Amino acid sequence: MVALIIMLSTSFLVSSCSILPGSNSAMKPPLALDRHAKLRGINLGNALEAPAPGNWGVTIKPTYFKAIRDAGFNHVRIPVRFSAHTSQTTPYSIEPNFFNMVDNIINQGLETGLTVILDLHHYDEIMVDPAGQREKFQAIWKQLANHYQDAPPTLYFELLNEPTQQLDSDTWNILVKDTVQLIRESNPERKILIGGTNFNSVESLNRLQLPSDKNLIATFHFYMPFEFTHQGADWVRGSCSWIGTTWEGTPEEKQAIVDQLDLAASWSAKSRIPIIMGEFGSIATADQTSRQKWTEFVTREAEKRNIGWLYWELCSEFKVYDCQLDTWDVSLLKTLIVK
Ligand code: GLC
Repeated sequence: MVALIIMLSTSFLVSSCSILPGSNSAMKPPLALDRHAKLRGINLGNALEAPAPGNWGVTIKPTYFKAIRDAGFNHVRIPVRFSAHTSQTTPYSIEPNFFNMVDNIINQGLETGLTVILDLHHYDEIMVDPAGQREKFQAIWKQLANHYQDAPPTLYFELLNEPTQQLDSDTWNILVKDTVQLIRESNPERKILIGGTNFNSVESLNRLQLPSDKNLIATFHFYMPFEFTHQGADWVRGSCSWIGTTWEGTPEEKQAIVDQLDLAASWSAKSRIPIIMGEFGSIATADQTSRQKWTEFVTREAEKRNIGWLYWELCSEFKVYDCQLDTWDVSLLKTLIVK
């Protein structure tokens, strides 16, 4: 009798423990749809999205692609400010010289065996006047889509970096639907990356409505805690006072990151749309130990959830590479790529 009572109470304990809220999630993080789980990439930032190429100190050299591939990455994202290189009025033709230069760079990446994500970046005008810029935005995509219709499937498109301001979710969802349709006329199966509003935040995913299309990939950007990753960033007002902010990896600091990545993974699983972390990184003004700890934690936690990632960025403010010396910051690189 006593034995029976012990058995009963033990089995009660086991079963009640296993349904305790949160006990499972602590052991097993939610998993994103795993189609792009092995994506390991880097952003070639501050080059072609500067107001004019070279203005922000980075000029992409063919050798970078080989260095990137040999380091263990399989994707590069190339941000381009096409909006500053078209004719003023319809049909908004992309300047041939600029297009040619971008084209050469894309081909260098593809020929090196990397998947290339072509991203429309710093289209500032569309953030303040989405209606007024709609025709130009679509004209740019029509030209890109026509031009690349025979490119290998390892070229991906990304509709627009970080929609924000007047480009709210309702407006963005309509523009996404119409522009995907336009691209599909010439590129029926090309992968297209699309993020939510509010600078591609994780939270905005819940307001993102994507057309039903098996070749879409959702993307989000991750810079949390912002006071750490953007300390002293000259494009962020007030960020000088953040200089000296460290990231120690305390349980609270880790939990804040885990919560965001869980949200992204759950959204992907629920909506059956693969997701990647298209930008994440920390500025080189931050102390090196904190950068390493943060990068390692974010990268591994993303990977645990089947979330592929692209580090922001190669060799400018958030650098992991020295573009003058052609050398990696090995200690930071090791936190990204585990061999
Ligand atoms: C966004 C911006 C880019 C900036 C980065 C980090 O991608 O477009 O210019 O450097 O975020 O703040």
